[in-house]
Amino acid sequence: MSEKPFIADHPLIQHKVTLLRDKNTGSKEFRELIQEITELLCYEATRDLPTCEVEVETPIAITHSRVIAGRKLAFVPILRAGIGMVDGAIELVPAAKVGHIGLFRDPETLKPVEYYCKMPGDIHERDVIVLDPMLATGGSAIDAINQIREFHPKSIKFMCIIAAPEGLNALQQAHPDVQIYCASLDERLNEHGYIVPGLGDAGDRIFGTK
Ligand code: PRP
Ligand code: URA
Repeated sequence: MSEKPFIADHPLIQHKVTLLRDKNTGSKEFRELIQEITELLCYEATRDLPTCEVEVETPIAITHSRVIAGRKLAFVPILRAGIGMVDGAIELVPAAKVGHIGLFRDPETLKPVEYYCKMPGDIHERDVIVLDPMLATGGSAIDAINQIREFHPKSIKFMCIIAAPEGLNALQQAHPDVQIYCASLDERLNEHGYIVPGLGDAGDRIFGTK
């Protein structure tokens, strides 16, 4: 049994995703929206972090209150487009370390081509959240998680902005233990492997290439 994916239904996320989809949204605003949506998704993806009680003195009284119990996180963006999500994630969890996986999707075969992998040295002590705005066929996410598994992290989650049903199913089949968080589950892939309605090419829109 695979983990049930988290598909956001929060009005703030829906509003920001609509602005992202708009082809007239320029790179500056696109980057800001990706960052904001990532922060909101991170809020959900960190909901199960354990806490412990500590003593704290307020200006009024001494009390007991909770803090995060030393759980270590690492974010791993899939290059390039995943880089757009790092600032939002780090904003919420400043102590997290960051690994990088370089992959691009061959435009003919749609298969992932690996070109870079660098993980924090203590990744085996960390819970990993993989970041990539787009889950299309799922090939890139599956390959990235295969690579990350070789470093034996404590757990792996996957966070994206837009998922296609095809990619969601493929990722769940390949890695049933990986909890998926996404801002929108779209209709389908087109004949070129792009998500419909989607938002186009995330990397190009973040970095202003094309
Ligand atoms: C995009 C996206 C994912 C991948 C998704 O990257 O950021 O990594 O495609 O497609 P898939 O689920 O079918 O594998 P792309 O290959 O365009 O590279 P880029 O981020 O360098 O632009
Ligand atoms: N990669 C993207 O950037 N967009 C898609 O729709 C599919 C893959």
